[in-house]
Parts: sequence; structure tokens; C-alpha cells
Amino acid sequence: MKKLKIAVAGLGRIGKIHLKNLSRNFPEIEVVAVMDVFDESKAIADEFNVPEFTKSFDDLLAVPGVDAVVICSPTDTHADYVVKAAQAGKQIFCEKPLDLSLQRVKEVMSIIGETGVKLMLGFNRRFDPEFRKIRQLVQNDAIGEIQIVKITSRDPGPPPVEYVKVSGGMFLDMTIHDFDMARYISGKQVKEVFAKGAVMVDPEIGKAGDIDTAVITLTFEDNSMAVIDNCRKAVYGYDQRLEVFGSKGMVQAENNFPNNHKLYTESGISGDLPLHFFLERYDASYNQEMREFVDALVSGVEMPVDGNDGLQSIAIGLAAKKSVAENRAVKLSEVMV
Ligand SMILES: NC(=O)c1ccc[n+]([C@@H]2O[C@H](COP(=O)([O-])OP(=O)(O)OC[C@H]3O[C@@H](n4cnc5c(N)ncnc54)[C@H](O)[C@@H]3O)[C@@H](O)[C@H]2O)c1
Repeated sequence: MKKLKIAVAGLGRIGKIHLKNLSRNFPEIEVVAVMDVFDESKAIADEFNVPEFTKSFDDLLAVPGVDAVVICSPTDTHADYVVKAAQAGKQIFCEKPLDLSLQRVKEVMSIIGETGVKLMLGFNRRFDPEFRKIRQLVQNDAIGEIQIVKITSRDPGPPPVEYVKVSGGMFLDMTIHDFDMARYISGKQVKEVFAKGAVMVDPEIGKAGDIDTAVITLTFEDNSMAVIDNCRKAVYGYDQRLEVFGSKGMVQAENNFPNNHKLYTESGISGDLPLHFFLERYDASYNQEMREFVDALVSGVEMPVDGNDGLQSIAIGLAAKKSVAENRAVKLSEVMV
């Protein structure tokens, strides 16, 4: 059988994870080329036996036979790279967010529509085994009518301020996963957002115009709600919990730990801290995400996360920003262009 040829752009934290999974776990594809703007990244191409390393995206697209590209470069390159790849007829996986402007996201989606290529966005948490089980339970009516979704999402430490400056801010960089999770787990659309934000971790983040701590309330179309709490720093590690409360009961996902034993002594009860950060906590989800991207390429079925999912979560993020700035509830229709 002819192997699908995949190229990867951007070999930072997330690019390396996708490259590792694609190179090692899927015999039906081969990674034929990778790109990064830094010469040092050539060593990563060598580590995974990728034959071609380029420093420009145009050169990557020009590598003969490339069927699909996986875009893991910084956020401000996503929209341009997606457009170039679509116009070159390549299937596309792109990390979140697609862009920070809804106008631009709509333009990109329209080009995707015209070219007929497929686009999948990197909302990896949808592929986490625990969250999937919760979604199945919700869909199977195990908890009845959803009333409240509760998401706790706190990082072990803030990113460098230089990253913060180009990230689009906490809502579009970090909370965007939680916005997507609220939609995914409930199967509902958000109509209104009310958010409060503060700088409680690092004043430099405030000077860069961002916040590091927030509580956000989402109202779905049927008036049920989601509440999300975020912080860029939790001293005990990556805190990722989910709860759905409904008319027939409640379902909860706790943090994942390196092991589950607890030590009970006369001075107290102790156990391990949660898995440290996203690369560890969501390791299985990243592999499953690529599994389903490759499956969709091979079988021609729809991509499991599409452009509209990207658009909705960006709109919720922009509404949350506006809500903090104006200290009021913001309807999604106010930010949609
Ligand atoms: N889904 C997730 O869980 C997840 C996690 C982290 C990051 N991300 C997203 O992935 C993207 C990358 O984040 P990261 O944490 O890997 O960043 P990173 O800074 O670790 O890596 C970015 C890489 O891109 C390279 N690069 C810089 N300019 C480039 C260009 N013009 N073209 C191609 N490559 C270029 C850099 O040299 C670096 O190797 C961001 O958009 C981020 O939002 C998603």
C-alpha cells in the first residue's frame, strides 16, 4: 500500500510531540519533510530520520509528493500557512488557535471551502480517554439534562513573557482549550460570556497587557451554564479537572497522577502530585489526535475537529476579553463578524 506523505512545520514543544507520534506509531504514513526557522532544529529531523529539513514553509510544500501538513509553528503563522497549504492542495492539521482575528479565521475557512482540502484543528483534550468517557456518559443520558459544567484548568507555571506577548492573551492561548471542552462535553453552543480576570501571579504579565487568573461563566443556548477557573500558576502542578452536573446525577474527572497509591501515617495522608504539564498529562490524547487525523486522511471521513470548532472557541475568547474590559456579560453575537 502507498504510504501517505506528511510534512511537519515548527519543531518546538508541540511539534516534537506530533513528529514523534507520526514517525513511530503509524506505519501507514511517512514523515518526508520537516521545517523550522532555526538551524538547530535540523538535529530533530535527524533524530527521527526525516529525509528533508527546510527553513521555509514554501520549500516544505515543494517537497515532492507531500499529501498533508501538520502545522505546529507559532500562532501568528497559522493562518498564512493554512492558506498556502490549502492552495497547494495539501490536507491540513493546524495547532490552535487558527488566528486571533475572527475576520481572518472566516477568510481562511472560505479559502479552505473553495480548495476542498480538509482542515483539522488541534483541540487535543477531546481525545483524552477520561474526557471521552465523560462525553459518552453525558450522551448516553447517564446524568440527565446538563445544568452545570465545571472546568478547572491551572498551569504549573506561567510561560515566558515573550510568549505571552504573541500568544493572544490567556483566553485565546490557554482558556481556548476549556472553551472547546465546554462545547465538546455538553454538545451545546455558547450564547453569552461573563468573565473576571486579574494579575495575581506575575506583574510582568500585567505589564504585557494580559491576565494570569480568571473565572469565566458561559451560558449555553438553553440557559444551562459552564464555569471555568484558570490560573497560570498552581504550585502543586497541572490541575485539570472536569465535572458535569445534571438532573440525574454528576460525573467527575479528577487529575491524573504518575501512580495512584497513597501513604497513610499518623502525620497525615500523602500521594504524588498530578502529572506535571500538558506534555505528560495529555500524552495519550496527542497520539489519539494524530491517529484520528491519519484515519480521516486514509478513509476520507470528516475531520473530528473542524474550522467551525476553531471559530467558536476564538469567538468565546474574544467575548471573554471584552467582558473583562467592560465588566459586563457579552453576547457571542456582539463579537461575531
Ligand atoms: N494543543 C496543545 O496542547 C498545544 C500545546 C502547546 C502549544 N500549542 C500551540 O502550538 C503552537 C506552537 O507552540 P509551542 O508551545 O510548540 O511553541 P514553541 O515556541 O515551543 O515552538 C515553536 C517552534 O516554531 C519555530 N518557529 C518560529 N517561527 C517559525 C516560522 N515562521 N515557521 C515555522 N516555525 C517557526 C520555532 O523555532 C520553534 O521551534 C502555538 O500556536 C500554540 O498555541 C498547542
